[in-house]
Amino acid sequence: MKIFIDTAKLDEIREACSWGIIDGLTTNPSLIRKAVETKRGEQMDMEEHIEEICRAVPGPVSLEVVGLRTADMINEATVLYTRFNPICENVVIKIPVNPSPGSREDVDFDGLKAIAELAKRSIPVNATLVMTPEQALLAAKAGACYVSPFMGRVDDYVSQKPAQDSALSFGQSGAELVGSICDSFLNYHISCEVIAASVRSIGHVRAAAAVGAQIATIPFSVLRQMVCHPKTEEGIRRFENDVVPEYAALFEGT
Ligand code: E4P
Repeated sequence: MKIFIDTAKLDEIREACSWGIIDGLTTNPSLIRKAVETKRGEQMDMEEHIEEICRAVPGPVSLEVVGLRTADMINEATVLYTRFNPICENVVIKIPVNPSPGSREDVDFDGLKAIAELAKRSIPVNATLVMTPEQALLAAKAGACYVSPFMGRVDDYVSQKPAQDSALSFGQSGAELVGSICDSFLNYHISCEVIAASVRSIGHVRAAAAVGAQIATIPFSVLRQMVCHPKTEEGIRRFENDVVPEYAALFEGT
């Protein structure tokens, strides 16, 4: 499984990339806000910041549009792609599968229309805010290269709204959602890659890998937890205590 980092903070990106485990990165407007907030009043040059992200990451970098109508999303996607893709040729545009705010039926399909048009223009798309297998299927059919099912938010939804949920996701957990999407893409030889997103815990990462997600996009804090185990720590302490001077001498003066 490929590992993307889910952040816009450069210190986290550089640190995680130095571990040799990062295959790509995803951002969204909330993650950009968090990166800006860490500057504590210091002005951030957004263009320069995104350029640095593109340079730091050895793989696809997802940048999200903020418009809600097809024309706006295509316009913003073109701005982002034209401005930042030439740096390292690794930009992917994130388009919400359905940008409808509330019950705006006229906007329900604007995401799919934008995905279809961008695919026609050979601009790679990551369809975001995917909460059902059907949304994933539609996004892939429209031409998305990636779909991002939101495991954590689906788990929140299922635990908070059981009655309403039954009509929409049949009580499916985030892990089951990712698994259903992987299965249906496999059944129909759909080449769109599945990015397990909204990852909140090691359990989510383990589940995403178990159900065959090609990619998990993981926050820095969860990446850190992934390398830790109390028995690993205990083992290190024991090895430290057992080092004999004859063995330690091998490394003296090196
Ligand atoms: C994915 O691409 C999103 O940026 C992200 O995973 C959303 O995570 P959240 O639900 O924890 O905000």
